[in-house]
Amino acid sequence: MKKKWLALSLTLAFASTSSLLYADTDADIEAGETKAASCVSCHGENGNSMVSTFPKLAQQDESYLRKQLHAFKNGSRKNPMMASIAQSLSDKDIIDIAAYYMAQKVSVNELPVMNDDDDDDKPAVSEADKKIAMDKLLAQGGDLYRNGDLPHEVSACIACHGPLAEGNEPAAFPALRSQHADYLIKTLTDFKNGERSNNAENMMHMITKKMTVEEIKAVSYRISMMK
Ligand code: HEC
Ligand code: HEC
Repeated sequence: MKKKWLALSLTLAFASTSSLLYADTDADIEAGETKAASCVSCHGENGNSMVSTFPKLAQQDESYLRKQLHAFKNGSRKNPMMASIAQSLSDKDIIDIAAYYMAQKVSVNELPVMNDDDDDDKPAVSEADKKIAMDKLLAQGGDLYRNGDLPHEVSACIACHGPLAEGNEPAAFPALRSQHADYLIKTLTDFKNGERSNNAENMMHMITKKMTVEEIKAVSYRISMMK
């Protein structure tokens, strides 16, 4: 256990020094807005996408945005839609666009609605039952976010993503608050299956591989409601 924590603190120290490489004071937010014109069709006005599987970019840490755009560009994060788009961006474009999105305000989400397949034990029948089931799922997600799941060695998300899921800009730990639940579920599942990894230490794979499908859903719904 001790060894694990040592590894974790080394990882944190490494993450904060490596992100300094991206530090840049020349970012031009206005130029970034113009350069982001081609992103609007999928990521929405001001980076608040209307499609729940397309991530919101508004108010995201610029260090994280840059890291992801470089990763799509060099192929270490794979997505057919983003690959060619990122390849068309210069290093300066990435700096300006990331600064523009960080300066936008993220929109809040509607309370998720329980689908009939959300409760595997017994399908919820009435609206009242669905509300009770959703409240339970959100409470479970909140508990996991704050405390992790010790018996299954799932780390608490709060340690890196912050009490309000605001992220940690110097360390390039992304903000998660008010992100679409559907995107969160998709990307956590990609980390779990090993389909997404552009992080040398593979932190999110180590965490998600221990999570159940239900835990992923619960924590994603909860995070989508954080502001
Ligand atoms: C055709 C739709 C489409 C367009 C246009 C598009 N994107 Fe994306 N983008 C996506 C999808 C889908 C994902 C999620 C990929 C995944 O699931 O891994 C994504 C992911 C991202 C991410 C990662 C977000 C995160 O939270 O990890 C960034 C950053 C990003 N896009 C920036 C941009 C920028 C900048 C532009 C414009 C220059 C742009 N995108 C244009 C569809 C698009
Ligand atoms: C040790 C630090 C650490 C802990 C603990 C941690 N994360 Fe992460 N998380 C990261 C890092 C670093 C990334 C960025 C990975 C990358 O660059 O690909 C990330 C990325 C993510 C993303 C992708 C965000 C996006 O916009 O695509 C999600 C979602 C996420 N984490 C959720 C969680 C959840 C839920 C938990 C708790 C169960 C958690 N994380 C615990 C460090 C951590």
